[in-house]
Amino acid sequence: MSTKKRITVFASGSGSNFKAIHKSVLNNEIPASITALVSNKPQCGAVTYAQAQGIRTYLLSPDEYRQTSEYVQDLLNVLEDESPDLIVLAGYLKKIPDEVIDRYPRKIINIHPSLLPKFGGEGWYGMRVHHAVTETGESESGCTVHYINSIYDDGPIIAQKKVMVDKSDTPESLAKKVQQKEHELYPETVRDLIKD
Ligand code: GRF
Repeated sequence: MSTKKRITVFASGSGSNFKAIHKSVLNNEIPASITALVSNKPQCGAVTYAQAQGIRTYLLSPDEYRQTSEYVQDLLNVLEDESPDLIVLAGYLKKIPDEVIDRYPRKIINIHPSLLPKFGGEGWYGMRVHHAVTETGESESGCTVHYINSIYDDGPIIAQKKVMVDKSDTPESLAKKVQQKEHELYPETVRDLIKD
């Protein structure tokens, strides 16, 4: 096996953060390979992209298992095979089971579209966050990369980037600004963690 560091990405959506990280890998800014994508959604941008790029894709959805323990075991088996140095959650909408978190301490990171601990926790995702930020008149927002633990958006913060919220911002315009920052912050943070 090559000595290059190995990244497994988990994603359920458009995959724009996955693509941003992959671009940095291809540009040799991140000295690693993205060896696999895990998704629960067969038809999503992340899966389409992984397949087009020849990145191994595993489709695993807890909803399709009768026993949660079987799902957890399959997930652990996939990760055992992939042997990741870093697991990157990039818009993955399922909770990572505690058994996986325990097996990979300080190796699983997530990105969230707010300045945590603000606007984080169960149910805080996507446009809900940006609606709440604009409605409460915050002057700034941003994105946060953090280690995960068993509570949503609660693990230790690794890095954040801020954006200013203007009076004229709508949830949609704010979402765009934050997404741009995510595409800077996530590849930079992955690079720093991989180099350590
Ligand atoms: C991002 O906004 C991220 O903060 C959140 O999920 C979204 C994923 O977007 N966790 P994309 O699929 O990477 O475009």
